[in-house]
Amino acid sequence: MTRLVQISDVHFGAEDPILVAPLSETINALEPDLVIVTGDVTTFGRRREFAAARAFLDTLKAPVVGAPGNHDTPYLDMAARLTSPWKRFERWLSPRLQPRAQAGLARVEMLPTARGAQARVDWSLGRVRKRDAIRAGEALSDHDGLKVLAGHHPLVAPGGLKGRAKTSGGERAARLIAEAGVDLYLSGHLHQVFAERLDRGDGSVCWFVGAGTALSRRTRGEPASFNVIEVGEDPRLVVWSAGEDPAFKPGQAISLEGLGA
Ligand SMILES: [Fe+2]
Repeated sequence: MTRLVQISDVHFGAEDPILVAPLSETINALEPDLVIVTGDVTTFGRRREFAAARAFLDTLKAPVVGAPGNHDTPYLDMAARLTSPWKRFERWLSPRLQPRAQAGLARVEMLPTARGAQARVDWSLGRVRKRDAIRAGEALSDHDGLKVLAGHHPLVAPGGLKGRAKTSGGERAARLIAEAGVDLYLSGHLHQVFAERLDRGDGSVCWFVGAGTALSRRTRGEPASFNVIEVGEDPRLVVWSAGEDPAFKPGQAISLEGLGA
């Protein structure tokens, strides 16, 4: 069995400090093949927030892959957002956090969705270029096992792409990566757990899984949580949530029927 842990929207700078050590200890005890970070590791892209994020990632024993979210650019510095939006992200988190990896059955690539700026009022909503979606699918094409893509913004969301899930080019990208044979797309941004399936019509399926926020107090009504995806005979998503006490516990399992079949 391959076990992937997805953590998202950790938002160092607005983290709940009491949960930091329990999160790390719980993930290490699960012995995942890979930890996937789907963006928004900081709140305002500040150096001290990246330093805290790096210190946290250094406590994890598994390899870590990830991509930035809209909060990982210097939020209040428009010039930096336009010219070098991900400089701090790369400087602080590389090489601990890699842009691609292979572990167990899975190969994971990143799909860039976050922008330092966009030609629309709400630049935080993300955008996927057609060529990036095609390239990401191609990067996984020669892999025989589980093909996983991860990005910050959702391409599919419960109820459709609307509100905060309005990723520009998202629906087109979802179609393109499903056609390319991608098995699983992991996203964050919404601070909402979901699992939506897109049937390819040949009996196979591409799953789109969203994560809650793993440490942040910006929980939008849901408890802090992270996702565990188990790929094997009975593929499933198990959401581990923090309760009143500072401990993460597994909740109900959601079947990811057909994943990797
Ligand atoms: Fe976000």
